[in-house]
Amino acid sequence: MNSDKTGMHGVWSNRWTFILAATGSAVGLGNIWKFPYITGENGGGAFVLVYLVCILAAGIPVMMAEVLLGRKGRMSPINTMRQMTDEQNAPRFFRSIGWMGAVSGFFILSFYSVIAGWTLAYVVKMASGIFDGADAELAGNEFGGMLGSPGLLLLLHTLFMILTGIVISRGVHKGLENGVRLMMPLLFMMLILLFGYALTTPGFGAAIAFLFTLDFSKLSTTSVVVALGHSFFTLSLGMGAIMAYGAYMPKQASLGRTVLAVGFLDTLVALVAGVVVFSVVFSNGLEPGAGPGLMFQTLPVAFAALPAGDLIGTVFFVLVAVAAWSSAISIAEPAVAWSVEKGISRFKGTLVVCGLSWLLGLGTVLSFNEWSEVTLFGKTFFGTLDFLTSNILLPLGGILIAVFVGWFMSREAIGTEARIQSPVLFGLWMFMLRYVSPVAVGLIFINGLLP
Ligand code: PHE
Ligand code: NA
Repeated sequence: MNSDKTGMHGVWSNRWTFILAATGSAVGLGNIWKFPYITGENGGGAFVLVYLVCILAAGIPVMMAEVLLGRKGRMSPINTMRQMTDEQNAPRFFRSIGWMGAVSGFFILSFYSVIAGWTLAYVVKMASGIFDGADAELAGNEFGGMLGSPGLLLLLHTLFMILTGIVISRGVHKGLENGVRLMMPLLFMMLILLFGYALTTPGFGAAIAFLFTLDFSKLSTTSVVVALGHSFFTLSLGMGAIMAYGAYMPKQASLGRTVLAVGFLDTLVALVAGVVVFSVVFSNGLEPGAGPGLMFQTLPVAFAALPAGDLIGTVFFVLVAVAAWSSAISIAEPAVAWSVEKGISRFKGTLVVCGLSWLLGLGTVLSFNEWSEVTLFGKTFFGTLDFLTSNILLPLGGILIAVFVGWFMSREAIGTEARIQSPVLFGLWMFMLRYVSPVAVGLIFINGLLP
């Protein structure tokens, strides 16, 4: 019924552009801001190991399934899932993958934009030179001062949401492609430079030990849920972002290799960011479990120690902001693409999606100051949204995607779309999708969420 809508949003120029765009979606605040601080909060090495296992056992197989659905459907996730369930005679219940994803997108974008706003502030702070010769105390005070000002946070949140809206409203080709093409390689170069600096710090050894020494006594069941949730969050899975991007992927590109490339790059960025952040933490006697402020309290100290640190720091925060930008675009794309298919103009669709997320974001703004004492089950407004999306909605979406492709799609339909040459690799992927990913996610869910 929706066949007239297939492909209406355009197609990436080639396989590389899809890799770039999907990497643009994947690499973002999740890698540079969130991964280090949740690793710090969850005790280090054992958490990192569980996270890596989740990426391999659930993340990569589900990502392949999600790209496959998108490329086959060629529409927004909501309409793609409607068509796929009809085509495959699967229960209509699986349509919820599309709807639930759009809702998750609203929630995620609302707080993502607030945190991304902080990186905008740090561009200005860095450029102004206030971090010249900064120590950990000064960096901590600067961060605390920023959080204490709801007006400033609101302004930054608004600014970032407008930037996001501008690119989304311009559409896939003009908007999305150009942004990531230049910025992604630059971000990698900056991270390598920071890694070089980390190598010279006294805390480097402690950082490596913290990240890679396995101490399972530090691992709680909640930590395992957080690691699983983060593996979906960081790969942009379970809510349709990667499905929407898959819809714009050329038919001939190899699914497996493309997805592995994205997964590898995303993991690499997270690990390098982790090493840099914890080198500064341990060189300055800081707390690994400092929470969401960790990146903002450590990196300025690193830049202060570097020659031309103000300049490098400014460029770095510009790049983090751009990485967040290219992720934010993909968070909104499923809902916007759907509204376009409904006959609403891309501009209006963007206005509604970004507007609603902006409104919800006010709660996150306030949760760092006025409402910091207002909690639900011990979590602030931001903490609740973060938990609800990463630890519940995204894994749930992922499990449904795995079960749908693994159990309800015909092998023939999967085979012709995925075109995986090796029968062994194809079999392995199917095995992961049918058994390993759903069982692992299910067990972690049941264990971690039940009291
Ligand atoms: N993967 C992004 C990051 O790591 C966040 C994201 C989540 C993007 C969900 C799209 C969908 O920052
Ligand atoms: Na990521």
